[in-house]
Amino acid sequence: MIRKNEWEIFFDAHAPVYMENSFTKNTKKEVDFILQELKLPPGSNILDIGCGTGRHALELATRGYLVTGVDISSGMLAQAEKEAKKSDVKLELIHADATRFKSNKLFDTAICLCEGAFGLLGSGDDPKEHDLLILRNIQKALKPDRKLISTMLNGLSMIRRFTQKDVGKGRFDPINMVETYDQEYDTPEGKKSVQLRERGYLPAELFNLFSKAGFMVEHIGGGTAGKWGRRQIDLDEIEIMVIAKKSVKGD
Ligand SMILES: C[S@@+](CC[C@H](N)C(=O)[O-])C[C@H]1O[C@@H](n2cnc3c(N)ncnc32)[C@H](O)[C@@H]1O
Repeated sequence: MIRKNEWEIFFDAHAPVYMENSFTKNTKKEVDFILQELKLPPGSNILDIGCGTGRHALELATRGYLVTGVDISSGMLAQAEKEAKKSDVKLELIHADATRFKSNKLFDTAICLCEGAFGLLGSGDDPKEHDLLILRNIQKALKPDRKLISTMLNGLSMIRRFTQKDVGKGRFDPINMVETYDQEYDTPEGKKSVQLRERGYLPAELFNLFSKAGFMVEHIGGGTAGKWGRRQIDLDEIEIMVIAKKSVKGD
Protein backbone atom coordinates (compact mmCIF):
# COMPACT_ATOMS: atom_id res chain seq x y z
CA MET A 1 0.00 0.00 0.00
CA ILE A 2 1.31 3.50 -0.88
CA ARG A 3 1.79 5.64 2.23
CA LYS A 4 -0.17 8.90 2.20
CA ASN A 5 1.68 12.19 2.36
CA GLU A 6 1.26 13.57 5.92
CA TRP A 7 0.01 16.92 4.60
CA GLU A 8 -2.67 15.13 2.65
CA ILE A 9 -3.75 13.30 5.83
CA PHE A 10 -3.83 16.55 7.80
CA PHE A 11 -5.59 18.70 5.17
CA ASP A 12 -8.17 16.00 4.37
CA ALA A 13 -9.22 16.15 8.03
CA HIS A 14 -8.81 19.92 8.39
CA ALA A 15 -10.67 20.81 5.16
CA PRO A 16 -14.18 21.36 6.63
CA VAL A 17 -12.83 24.00 9.07
CA TYR A 18 -9.93 25.43 7.01
CA MET A 19 -11.85 28.59 6.13
CA GLU A 20 -12.23 29.36 9.86
CA ASN A 21 -8.48 30.16 10.05
CA SER A 22 -7.99 33.90 10.55
CA PHE A 23 -5.36 34.05 7.77
CA THR A 24 -8.02 33.17 5.18
CA LYS A 25 -10.10 36.27 5.89
CA ASN A 26 -8.50 38.71 3.42
CA THR A 27 -8.97 36.82 0.16
CA LYS A 28 -10.64 39.65 -1.80
CA LYS A 29 -7.85 42.09 -0.88
CA GLU A 30 -5.24 39.47 -1.78
CA VAL A 31 -6.85 38.89 -5.18
CA ASP A 32 -6.97 42.67 -5.77
CA PHE A 33 -3.19 42.67 -5.26
CA ILE A 34 -2.64 39.65 -7.55
CA LEU A 35 -4.62 41.27 -10.38
CA GLN A 36 -2.94 44.63 -9.91
CA GLU A 37 0.44 42.86 -10.27
CA LEU A 38 -0.48 40.65 -13.21
CA LYS A 39 -2.60 43.03 -15.26
CA LEU A 40 -4.28 40.09 -17.02
CA PRO A 41 -7.49 40.45 -19.00
CA PRO A 42 -10.47 38.40 -17.76
CA GLY A 43 -10.65 35.14 -19.69
CA SER A 44 -6.92 34.45 -19.10
CA ASN A 45 -6.12 31.08 -17.61
CA ILE A 46 -4.49 30.80 -14.19
CA LEU A 47 -2.82 27.81 -12.53
CA ASP A 48 -3.28 27.70 -8.73
CA ILE A 49 -0.83 25.23 -7.19
CA GLY A 50 -1.83 24.02 -3.71
CA CYS A 51 -5.19 25.72 -4.21
CA GLY A 52 -6.70 24.20 -1.05
CA THR A 53 -10.37 25.13 -0.63
CA GLY A 54 -9.95 27.38 -3.67
CA ARG A 55 -10.34 30.68 -1.86
CA HIS A 56 -8.20 32.58 -4.43
CA ALA A 57 -9.32 30.38 -7.34
CA LEU A 58 -13.00 31.04 -6.60
CA GLU A 59 -12.53 34.78 -6.25
CA LEU A 60 -10.57 34.88 -9.53
CA ALA A 61 -13.20 32.76 -11.30
CA THR A 62 -15.91 35.12 -10.04
CA ARG A 63 -13.97 37.96 -11.70
CA GLY A 64 -13.96 36.16 -15.06
CA TYR A 65 -10.68 34.17 -15.04
CA LEU A 66 -10.35 30.49 -16.01
CA VAL A 67 -8.71 28.81 -13.05
CA THR A 68 -7.18 25.35 -12.70
CA GLY A 69 -6.51 24.36 -9.09
CA VAL A 70 -4.12 21.56 -8.16
CA ASP A 71 -4.00 20.03 -4.69
CA ILE A 72 -2.85 16.83 -3.00
CA SER A 73 -5.84 16.81 -0.62
CA SER A 74 -9.12 15.50 -2.01
CA GLY A 75 -10.80 16.88 1.14
CA MET A 76 -9.65 20.42 0.33
CA LEU A 77 -10.66 20.01 -3.33
CA ALA A 78 -14.10 18.75 -2.28
CA GLN A 79 -14.61 22.00 -0.33
CA ALA A 80 -13.53 24.01 -3.40
CA GLU A 81 -15.95 22.05 -5.59
CA LYS A 82 -18.82 22.57 -3.12
CA GLU A 83 -18.17 26.32 -2.95
CA ALA A 84 -17.88 26.59 -6.76
CA LYS A 85 -21.30 24.95 -7.16
CA LYS A 86 -22.79 27.23 -4.50
CA SER A 87 -21.41 30.36 -6.19
CA ASP A 88 -22.20 29.03 -9.68
CA VAL A 89 -18.64 29.45 -10.97
CA LYS A 90 -16.51 26.99 -12.91
CA LEU A 91 -13.17 25.69 -11.63
CA GLU A 92 -11.02 22.95 -13.05
CA LEU A 93 -9.75 20.96 -10.07
CA ILE A 94 -6.96 18.40 -10.29
CA HIS A 95 -6.02 15.99 -7.52
CA ALA A 96 -2.23 15.73 -7.77
CA ASP A 97 1.05 16.08 -5.92
CA ALA A 98 2.62 19.33 -7.18
CA THR A 99 6.06 17.67 -7.24
CA ARG A 100 4.75 15.28 -9.93
CA PHE A 101 2.12 17.42 -11.63
CA LYS A 102 2.36 17.70 -15.42
CA SER A 103 0.06 20.06 -17.24
CA ASN A 104 -1.31 19.32 -20.68
CA LYS A 105 -1.89 23.01 -21.38
CA LEU A 106 -0.03 26.30 -20.99
CA PHE A 107 -1.14 29.02 -18.58
CA ASP A 108 -1.08 32.82 -18.68
CA THR A 109 0.02 32.95 -15.05
CA ALA A 110 0.48 30.84 -11.91
CA ILE A 111 -0.03 31.35 -8.20
CA CYS A 112 1.25 29.22 -5.32
CA LEU A 113 0.04 30.89 -2.15
CA CYS A 114 0.24 30.46 1.62
CA GLU A 115 2.56 27.47 1.28
CA GLY A 116 0.42 25.90 -1.42
CA ALA A 117 2.58 22.73 -1.51
CA PHE A 118 5.78 24.84 -1.47
CA GLY A 119 7.84 23.94 1.61
CA LEU A 120 5.32 21.36 2.86
CA LEU A 121 7.41 18.20 3.05
CA GLY A 122 6.06 14.69 3.36
CA SER A 123 8.21 12.31 5.43
CA GLY A 124 9.68 10.85 2.24
CA ASP A 125 10.45 14.21 0.60
CA ASP A 126 13.97 15.58 0.20
CA PRO A 127 14.09 19.23 1.41
CA LYS A 128 16.73 19.97 -1.24
CA GLU A 129 14.56 18.73 -4.12
CA HIS A 130 10.89 19.16 -3.17
CA ASP A 131 10.34 22.81 -4.05
CA LEU A 132 12.67 22.76 -7.05
CA LEU A 133 10.47 20.00 -8.53
CA ILE A 134 7.35 22.11 -7.90
CA LEU A 135 8.89 25.22 -9.46
CA ARG A 136 10.08 23.26 -12.51
CA ASN A 137 6.56 21.86 -13.01
CA ILE A 138 5.07 25.35 -12.77
CA GLN A 139 7.70 26.74 -15.13
CA LYS A 140 6.87 24.08 -17.74
CA ALA A 141 3.15 24.86 -17.43
CA LEU A 142 3.59 28.60 -18.13
CA LYS A 143 3.64 30.43 -21.43
CA PRO A 144 6.93 32.30 -22.13
CA ASP A 145 7.55 35.46 -20.07
CA ARG A 146 4.58 34.77 -17.79
CA LYS A 147 4.59 35.36 -14.04
CA LEU A 148 4.33 33.32 -10.88
CA ILE A 149 3.26 34.88 -7.58
CA SER A 150 4.15 32.75 -4.58
CA THR A 151 4.39 32.97 -0.81
CA MET A 152 6.40 30.67 1.43
CA LEU A 153 7.63 30.39 5.02
CA ASN A 154 10.12 33.03 6.12
CA GLY A 155 13.34 31.30 7.21
CA LEU A 156 14.60 34.52 8.83
CA SER A 157 11.80 34.38 11.37
CA MET A 158 12.50 30.67 11.97
CA ILE A 159 16.12 31.44 12.82
CA ARG A 160 15.04 34.19 15.21
CA ARG A 161 12.35 32.01 16.85
CA PHE A 162 14.08 28.63 17.30
CA THR A 163 16.68 27.97 20.00
CA GLN A 164 19.64 25.61 20.31
CA LYS A 165 17.35 23.45 22.47
CA ASP A 166 14.93 23.14 19.51
CA VAL A 167 17.84 22.00 17.35
CA GLY A 168 18.86 19.43 19.99
CA LYS A 169 15.30 18.09 20.23
CA GLY A 170 15.01 17.74 16.44
CA ARG A 171 12.29 20.41 16.30
CA PHE A 172 14.39 22.58 13.98
CA ASP A 173 16.93 21.33 11.45
CA PRO A 174 19.24 24.30 10.72
CA ILE A 175 20.98 22.53 7.83
CA ASN A 176 17.80 22.14 5.77
CA MET A 177 15.77 24.92 7.46
CA VAL A 178 13.05 22.42 8.34
CA GLU A 179 10.69 22.59 11.30
CA THR A 180 9.19 19.28 12.54
CA TYR A 181 6.19 19.10 14.87
CA ASP A 182 3.26 16.91 15.86
CA GLN A 183 -0.07 18.29 14.72
CA GLU A 184 -3.35 17.12 16.23
CA TYR A 185 -6.47 16.95 14.10
CA ASP A 186 -10.08 15.93 14.63
CA THR A 187 -11.67 12.87 13.05
CA PRO A 188 -15.14 11.33 13.57
CA GLU A 189 -13.33 8.73 15.74
CA GLY A 190 -11.66 11.39 17.91
CA LYS A 191 -8.33 13.24 17.95
CA LYS A 192 -5.37 11.93 15.96
CA SER A 193 -1.87 13.26 15.47
CA VAL A 194 0.49 13.44 12.50
CA GLN A 195 4.12 14.55 12.28
CA LEU A 196 4.50 17.50 9.87
CA ARG A 197 7.64 19.03 8.31
CA GLU A 198 7.81 22.57 6.88
CA ARG A 199 10.75 24.19 5.13
CA GLY A 200 11.49 27.88 5.44
CA TYR A 201 13.62 29.98 3.08
CA LEU A 202 16.12 32.80 3.31
CA PRO A 203 15.65 35.40 0.55
CA ALA A 204 19.09 34.67 -0.94
CA GLU A 205 18.22 30.97 -1.30
CA LEU A 206 15.04 31.88 -3.14
CA PHE A 207 16.93 33.82 -5.82
CA ASN A 208 19.03 30.69 -6.52
CA LEU A 209 16.15 28.24 -6.38
CA PHE A 210 13.90 30.21 -8.73
CA SER A 211 16.74 30.83 -11.16
CA LYS A 212 17.62 27.11 -11.18
CA ALA A 213 13.99 26.33 -12.05
CA GLY A 214 13.97 28.78 -14.97
CA PHE A 215 12.51 31.92 -13.39
CA MET A 216 13.82 35.46 -13.15
CA VAL A 217 12.96 36.94 -9.77
CA GLU A 218 11.37 40.39 -10.03
CA HIS A 219 10.58 40.95 -6.39
CA ILE A 220 11.18 39.37 -2.97
CA GLY A 221 9.50 40.95 0.03
CA GLY A 222 7.14 40.46 2.92
CA GLY A 223 4.31 38.04 2.11
CA THR A 224 2.27 37.26 5.19
CA ALA A 225 -1.34 36.50 4.31
CA GLY A 226 -3.57 39.55 4.53
CA LYS A 227 -0.59 41.94 4.23
CA TRP A 228 0.32 41.61 0.57
CA GLY A 229 2.01 44.36 -1.37
CA ARG A 230 5.47 45.11 -2.71
CA ARG A 231 7.12 45.83 0.61
CA GLN A 232 10.21 45.08 2.70
CA ILE A 233 10.40 41.79 4.65
CA ASP A 234 9.70 42.05 8.34
CA LEU A 235 12.29 39.72 9.92
CA ASP A 236 9.71 38.18 12.24
CA GLU A 237 6.81 37.75 9.84
CA ILE A 238 5.57 34.33 8.84
CA GLU A 239 5.80 34.49 5.05
CA ILE A 240 7.90 35.82 2.20
CA MET A 241 6.53 36.73 -1.24
CA VAL A 242 8.33 36.02 -4.51
CA ILE A 243 7.14 37.44 -7.84
CA ALA A 244 9.03 35.85 -10.72
CA LYS A 245 8.85 35.65 -14.49
CA LYS A 246 9.46 32.52 -16.57
CA SER A 247 12.84 32.89 -18.25
CA VAL A 248 14.17 30.84 -21.13
CA LYS A 249 15.27 27.79 -19.20
CA GLY A 250 16.69 26.66 -15.86
CA ASP A 251 19.74 24.42 -15.21
C1 LIG B 1 -1.99 26.26 3.81
S1 LIG B 1 -2.87 25.53 2.48
C2 LIG B 1 -2.92 26.87 1.31
C3 LIG B 1 -4.15 26.78 0.44
C4 LIG B 1 -4.43 27.99 -0.44
N1 LIG B 1 -3.37 28.23 -1.39
C5 LIG B 1 -4.67 29.22 0.40
O1 LIG B 1 -3.98 30.24 0.20
O2 LIG B 1 -5.58 29.20 1.24
C6 LIG B 1 -1.67 24.44 1.76
C7 LIG B 1 -2.28 23.56 0.67
O3 LIG B 1 -1.21 22.88 -0.01
C8 LIG B 1 -1.66 21.56 -0.30
N2 LIG B 1 -0.48 20.69 -0.51
C9 LIG B 1 0.44 20.29 0.40
N3 LIG B 1 1.38 19.54 -0.19
C10 LIG B 1 1.04 19.46 -1.51
C11 LIG B 1 1.63 18.84 -2.63
N4 LIG B 1 2.77 18.13 -2.54
N5 LIG B 1 1.01 18.95 -3.84
C12 LIG B 1 -0.15 19.66 -3.97
N6 LIG B 1 -0.74 20.28 -2.92
C13 LIG B 1 -0.16 20.19 -1.71
C14 LIG B 1 -2.48 21.18 0.92
O4 LIG B 1 -3.31 20.07 0.69
C15 LIG B 1 -3.22 22.48 1.19
O5 LIG B 1 -4.45 22.52 0.52
